Amino acid sequence: MAYAAGVDVGSTQTKAVIIDEARRIVARALTDTGANVTRAAETAFRMALEDGDRREEEVEYVVGTGYGRYKVTFGNTQVTEISCHGRGAVHMFPDTRTVIDMGGQDTKAIRVSPAGEILDFCMNDKCAAGTGRFLGAAANALEIPLPDLGPTALRGERAVKISTTCTVFAESEVLSWLGKGKKIEDILLGVHQSIATRSVGLLRRVGIESAVTFTGGVAKNPAMIAAIQDKLGTGVNVSEESHYMGALGAALFALDHILAGRAPAPTPGAA
Ligand SMILES: Nc1ncnc2c1ncn2[C@@H]1O[C@H](COP(=O)(O)OP(=O)(O)OP(=O)(O)O)[C@@H](O)[C@H]1O
Ligand SMILES: [Mg+2]
Repeated sequence: MAYAAGVDVGSTQTKAVIIDEARRIVARALTDTGANVTRAAETAFRMALEDGDRREEEVEYVVGTGYGRYKVTFGNTQVTEISCHGRGAVHMFPDTRTVIDMGGQDTKAIRVSPAGEILDFCMNDKCAAGTGRFLGAAANALEIPLPDLGPTALRGERAVKISTTCTVFAESEVLSWLGKGKKIEDILLGVHQSIATRSVGLLRRVGIESAVTFTGGVAKNPAMIAAIQDKLGTGVNVSEESHYMGALGAALFALDHILAGRAPAPTPGAA
């Protein structure tokens, strides 16, 4: 049995996934990317090998993706994260036609064909206002652990309208609303709604075709799922593996390579 791996070196977190020949995930691992991108890629891959109790020699092909994909020095090749999120999303949810990937630094809207090929995409330009970093800034300001942000926002009843469009000012705006006596829950509800509005704007630019699949680390946040569904007026697919979707797509490309290498040689003389 051969195994294939994908390593998604994101701006914020690095994810590694190992799959078997039946395209099942057998191991996964996640680590913060930090300043040493090459080391983060190695750490995530090593942690995934441990998670699946596999030896490095058993993994025949590794594809790197994400912003640090060229730093996956042990990788055999690289594929863009747009292609990998599209591929992973269609694999998990074959009805996917549109993908929204919300990561630490970028939000990407991607339109895919039924086969998982990329038809169109767009992303937030240089500005992290609609991404996990904006949420991280709000979490810092309110001293709330990241995993508690969503559940806290879901308790909000009257969303505070967040006016800043810049992550740099998110912290001060959040604190100023707190100073004005607004409830943390309502401020956070407003933060999630503001990010969801921006993300749905990106989706509209590529054209929203159902089903929509939500990927990336921010898809772990239940308030963001709810806010996006609310703005879209329809449900979205979210997998337990949403955070690993790019790494999964990369691993699927790696498996393609392994299987193509095994294709029987054409019979000599055959037409
Ligand atoms: N348990 C969690 N609950 C809520 N949010 C989370 C959780 N874990 C991660 N996140 C969010 O996910 C973000 C990281 O997502 P992801 O790993 O997809 O980003 P990335 O791939 O590093 O970034 P990019 O794609 O922009 O380069 C964090 O900024 C954080 O906001
Ligand atoms: Mg990413």
